[in-house]
Amino acid sequence: MQEHKFINFYGRTTGHLSRRAVHLLENLLPKYLLDMDRFYSISDNYEKVNLEIGFGSGDFIYNSAVANPKSLYVGVEVFANGVASLLDKIDLSPSSLQNILIYNSNVYYLLEKFQENTFDNLYILFPDPWHKTKHHKRRLINTDNLAVFSKILKKNGVLRFVSDHDDYFNWALEHFADSPHFEIINPQNFTTLPADHFQTKYERKAIKEGREIRFIEVRNIK
Ligand SMILES: C[S@@+](CC[C@H](N)C(=O)[O-])C[C@H]1O[C@@H](n2cnc3c(N)ncnc32)[C@H](O)[C@@H]1O
Repeated sequence: MQEHKFINFYGRTTGHLSRRAVHLLENLLPKYLLDMDRFYSISDNYEKVNLEIGFGSGDFIYNSAVANPKSLYVGVEVFANGVASLLDKIDLSPSSLQNILIYNSNVYYLLEKFQENTFDNLYILFPDPWHKTKHHKRRLINTDNLAVFSKILKKNGVLRFVSDHDDYFNWALEHFADSPHFEIINPQNFTTLPADHFQTKYERKAIKEGREIRFIEVRNIK
């Protein structure tokens, strides 16, 4: 079970927290915190079980959870202000959301705790591109991680990657094309985002700054 330890975050992952953010993290986060036992005890009640890594301000996971009440969403975000933004949306929502669980730490502490064949969908939207060549190994899309993603996704489960960064997009395309676990299933092109996509904060910034958004969808062939 994950401890409620946002207060121990320091440096980049916490930053300045408003009083409202602290209030939400202290009072609302415990209700939505991911607990593995609880997660596996309720996940069978849902038609689809989905994971978003690096949800930022939570636009996609929040809107998806509202639109799909029969699906369960696990969201991972290491940045406390991002978690607070998602909690803010949940708190102000007219619908009382039950289908979101939040993990507020580094996803690498979490992935190995999931059983095989857990998720129907995995969303990685505008992940940090790690511009410098010497940092490319930190990219979420890499050979080792694809093997882990394949393991925790069900067979035929779908991973969606979206990016505004040309180099990372091409890197991801190559890694998916080379992977024995995944098959690229983009319907017609890489630019017409799927109908069930919801725009994220980072995406709005990218559009405003004139960058092209592209996505890749892959099917888990195991
Ligand atoms: C460029 S932002 C995009 C945020 C959001 N998906 C959007 O489109 O607005 C990448 C996010 O991934 C989160 N992140 C990066 N590495 C992570 C990790 N190892 N575990 C959890 N979150 C991570 C960052 O804190 C950041 O919020």
